[in-house]
Amino acid sequence: MKEKIEALLADISALACKTDKEIEEARVRLLGKKGEVTRLFEEFRTVAPELKKEYGQKLNQLKNAAMAKIESLKNASEENAEPAAAGFDLTKPGEPFQLGSRHPVSIVREEIISIFRKFGYNVAEGPEIEDDWHVFEALNFPPEHPARDMQDTFFITSGHDPILLRTHTSSVQVRAMETLPLPIRIVCPGRVFRNEAISARAHCIFHQVEGLYIDENVTFADLKQAILLFAREMFGPDAKIRMRPSYFPFTEPSAEVDVSCNICHGKGCNICKGTGWLEILGCGMVDPNVLEASGIDSSKYSGFAFGMGVERIAMLKWQVKDLRNYFENDMRFLKEFESAI
Ligand code: PHE
Repeated sequence: MKEKIEALLADISALACKTDKEIEEARVRLLGKKGEVTRLFEEFRTVAPELKKEYGQKLNQLKNAAMAKIESLKNASEENAEPAAAGFDLTKPGEPFQLGSRHPVSIVREEIISIFRKFGYNVAEGPEIEDDWHVFEALNFPPEHPARDMQDTFFITSGHDPILLRTHTSSVQVRAMETLPLPIRIVCPGRVFRNEAISARAHCIFHQVEGLYIDENVTFADLKQAILLFAREMFGPDAKIRMRPSYFPFTEPSAEVDVSCNICHGKGCNICKGTGWLEILGCGMVDPNVLEASGIDSSKYSGFAFGMGVERIAMLKWQVKDLRNYFENDMRFLKEFESAI
């Protein structure tokens, strides 16, 4: 009997069960009605009286060891499965993680910038709050030009040298011409402000990407080629452009550029109002007065500039009919662009 008790003790201390099922089986095998420990207790009845005291103690130690072992195995297994014990259902699907998506204006702005980066343009940025010089004066705006009027410009201070919200990012081009070494090849993305009544087609805040290229011997042919390549990257390899004469104080000659309608491919639809063409940007050769105002020798250098509205390009790209959608942050609208990233 002594050997049996010792063998069982060794057995118990080596016991290594992991699952609840294994632990229960071990418990039954040792301490169940017909378990090995229980059977030894039955055998104890036949032990000689003089040995009863010694064997009784040993048997009790064995039983306690078995119970303690089973208890500690159970605890360990509960620790392993703690989340389940704490009321978590590990088989449940996870909470869906709501990913944000980029705003359509950001998507298009980045697309415009990355196209011009491929052409070798750098990005330049400048302040939204500007002075009269950088927004108007250095850009050859005559003093009585209507854009300088309260009707169009948000003034922060009035008077002789007013502070105002920039009405275009051409102000960044002036800052670049004043500071950067030549040649200059930059695009200027940014937010601009105009005092306009908010409607489906106009807003008092919108975004532009303007561009400037100044070097020796830059011609109108270079401008046309740059715009054509841009239109093909943006609207597809079959895109055509046409240029119409226009007027800006800071460019001479100036042009407005139309791209062939990417919806009807020139046949005429309600997006292009039956014309087959969509207006995308304004451009021109930088007026020599503008170069001189920033200290660039206009007898040696020439350049071109262009500017486009990001919301407008986005509207053409995705046939958005109402500009106000871009500013209201309605999730139903924004979610439509999730896959456009
Ligand atoms: N600055 C003009 C605007 O805001 C756009 C433009 C830029 C036109 C450069 C010609 C050349 O409308």
